[in-house]
Amino acid sequence: MPTPQERREELKAVWEQARGCVKCPQLAEARTTVVFGSGNADADLMFVGEAPGKNEDLKGHPFVGQAGKLLDQLLEEVGLERADVFVNNTLNCRPPGNRDPHPVEIENCQDYLMRKIELVEPKVICTLGNFATKLLRGDNTGITKVHGQAEVRVIGRRAVRLLPIFHPAAALYTRSMLDTLRADMAKVPELLALPVPEQPEPDDPPRPPISEEPETSRAVPSGGEEGEGARQAPGASPDEQLGLF
Ligand code: URA
Repeated sequence: MPTPQERREELKAVWEQARGCVKCPQLAEARTTVVFGSGNADADLMFVGEAPGKNEDLKGHPFVGQAGKLLDQLLEEVGLERADVFVNNTLNCRPPGNRDPHPVEIENCQDYLMRKIELVEPKVICTLGNFATKLLRGDNTGITKVHGQAEVRVIGRRAVRLLPIFHPAAALYTRSMLDTLRADMAKVPELLALPVPEQPEPDDPPRPPISEEPETSRAVPSGGEEGEGARQAPGASPDEQLGLF
C-alpha cells in the first residue's frame, strides 16, 4: 500500500508526463498550460468537471473563473474549502473556443483521470455536468436524469461513491438549477461520513505506464510541447505549480 507521500510523488510524476502530452494535436497546439488538477493530493472528495476554459488555461488551475467562484461558495456552504478537495476535469487541455470535448479527446485523456483517481484515492467523486458524468458512469444517461443520485461505482481500480451534480457554469444564470445544485451538494457531507466502499481485489497486474500514443493515430503537430506562455511563477516548486496543498 503506497503511503500518501508516495502517492503524491507519483501524482507529480503523472503531471510531468501530462504536461508534455500531445495525444490531441489540436489541443496541444492551442493550449497555454496543461490543467492537470489541483487541491489536496490526499482528498476524500474529488470533483471532475468538463475541461479548462480560458482562465484555467492561462492560470494552469481548474475552476478559477466564475464557475469556480460558485464552486467555492457551494463548498463553503457544506463546510469545505479548496484545500480539502481535489479538483480536475475530463480533459486536461482547453478545447479551442470552449467547444465541447470530442469523444477521441475524452478517450485520450482518460488514462490521466484514472491515474489521478487511483493516486488521490477519493471516497467520493462529484461529477460536474454531462461529460464527466457520462464518462465515469460509463453510459450515456444525461445529468438531468441522474443528478443527486449517489451510487457506488468501481472506476478504474477504485470503488468510490459517485455523486453526479449539475455543472456550476450551468447554474450561474439559472436560479432553479442553482437551487438543485445546492440541494445535491448538501448530500456531500453525509456521503463523506459513510465508510469507504469495499475495494476491488488488489491482485490486478501492475498498471502499465500511460501510453504516449493517441487513441487514433495521426500526425503530431510540430513543436507540440506545452505552450510557451505557461503562466507559472519562475522557480515555483512542482507542488506550487500544481497547486497542491
Ligand atoms: N469548467 C470546467 O468544466 N472546468 C474548469 O476547470 C472550468 C470551467
